[in-house]
Amino acid sequence: MIIVNMAMTADGKIASSTRSTSKIGSNRDHNHLLELRATADAIMCGARTVDLNKITMGTGGKRFEQLRLRRRLTLHPLRIIVTGSGSLDTKAELFRHDFSPIIVLTTSRASKHAIGKLNQVADEVRICGKREINWPATLNWLREKWNVKRLLCEGGGELNDALFRAHLVNELHLTICPKILGGHHAPTICDGTGLQKLADAANLKLKSVKRTGDELFLVLRPQSKLPTSRLA
Ligand SMILES: NC(=O)c1ccc[n+]([C@@H]2O[C@H](COP(=O)([O-])OP(=O)(O)OC[C@H]3O[C@@H](n4cnc5c(N)ncnc54)[C@H](OP(=O)(O)O)[C@@H]3O)[C@@H](O)[C@H]2O)c1
Repeated sequence: MIIVNMAMTADGKIASSTRSTSKIGSNRDHNHLLELRATADAIMCGARTVDLNKITMGTGGKRFEQLRLRRRLTLHPLRIIVTGSGSLDTKAELFRHDFSPIIVLTTSRASKHAIGKLNQVADEVRICGKREINWPATLNWLREKWNVKRLLCEGGGELNDALFRAHLVNELHLTICPKILGGHHAPTICDGTGLQKLADAANLKLKSVKRTGDELFLVLRPQSKLPTSRLA
């Protein structure tokens, strides 16, 4: 099962146009993210989300770790980063926190030099395709080697787009925050190459909506049943 969790402004942006401002949501929204993490075997982010933010992809503390143990999950989730060209910054904050394995998914586009550098900071670097990640094969591998059944993707927009285009997202958790950022180049929850025709769009249904303060917490699911999940 793949869950995508994102917070966006009322005008649909997930960061400013310089990509520098990305804490869109409130502390309640952050708590929602930690609650979701406490249900996942692994957390996955795109290279730019890791480069641009001081994130650790950690549990958020003892309360969540106890929840994880009660759910028979590992104490800390596995951390997965996607970098097709290997451009991921190996000095990113994430690599300074050694509490769970870090897996880097890349492609043959990455140079030997880049892969060598990534190997120094990650527990495993996996070539998952020639030019693009082969998601079905990669998800199979993650399940078989790392026991990943429930994967939480925390963006950014380019990575989300790849998962939506491959029809692999089972649930989208979306927080709509009462802010307007604007900007042609500000990222949205789904950027990348996108789709050309409305007929190909992912059709979702609203499973739940909850208002807390001035934020809306939405859970959406695909309208049609997805092909057999590679992770479930
Ligand atoms: N508000 C929120 O909830 C939220 C959440 C997360 C992130 N953000 C913000 O979103 C922005 C980052 O989003 P983004 O769309 O620019 O970047 P992103 O999705 O985090 O990372 C993009 C990079 O990841 C790699 N990648 C992603 N999908 C891939 C695929 N299918 N195959 C191969 N490589 C793939 C590529 O790395 P290479 O270039 O190495 O090939 C690509 O350049 C930041 O400003 C971040 O702070 C906001």
